[in-house]
Amino acid sequence: TSISVNEYLRDHIRTVPDWPAPGVQFRDITPLLQDPKVFRVMSDAFVHRYMEPRLRPDVVAGLDARGFILGAVVAHELNVGFVPIRKKGKLPFTTVEETYELEYGSATVELHTDAVKPGDRVLLIDDLIATGGTMMAGKKLLEKLGATVVEGAAIVDLPELGGSRLLRESGLPLFTLVDFA
Ligand code: PRP
Ligand code: ADE
Repeated sequence: TSISVNEYLRDHIRTVPDWPAPGVQFRDITPLLQDPKVFRVMSDAFVHRYMEPRLRPDVVAGLDARGFILGAVVAHELNVGFVPIRKKGKLPFTTVEETYELEYGSATVELHTDAVKPGDRVLLIDDLIATGGTMMAGKKLLEKLGATVVEGAAIVDLPELGGSRLLRESGLPLFTLVDFA
């Protein structure tokens, strides 16, 4: 019998209750990276999609820190460059920055000013979409430099947190492999 990619990947995501705070069901993707077969099935799903001429980006941007893993794999396979969007204080050259609200407090992310050129078509990658704040901030940074984000991609969507809906309503198409309601 065969199971879908969705079910196969879902079976390899570990849920840790009450981490990092009470009430949070943490969706841990590390088991999916640890198994080489699962890692390949997962990364091939993205590579296959973005190989399509209509969706092939000029650059892949990855979100700190878990978005670096998948983002770098996809960029390498597509033979395009990879640029990191980092938490504040990590990038050495001149940057643009964007501050956004978290559940408690706020966070700031940065991007090197020469990371993308005006008109670049960028694929924005993270591991997971919760409130959507991180991906929205990444999109704004890329747009500040004149680039166009052609799609946002993530392994996991948590639709109940409303982030994916917000991102789509803002005009960003999204591609995700596994939903946890
Ligand atoms: C997690 C996750 C996404 C973000 C999603 O990162 O990897 O980047 O949260 O949440 P949001 O949709 O509500 O913005 P985290 O800030 O935990 O950092 P890490 O990747 O360094 O672990
Ligand atoms: N980032 C934000 N919420 C998360 C969750 N529930 N699991 C994993 N990463 C997250």
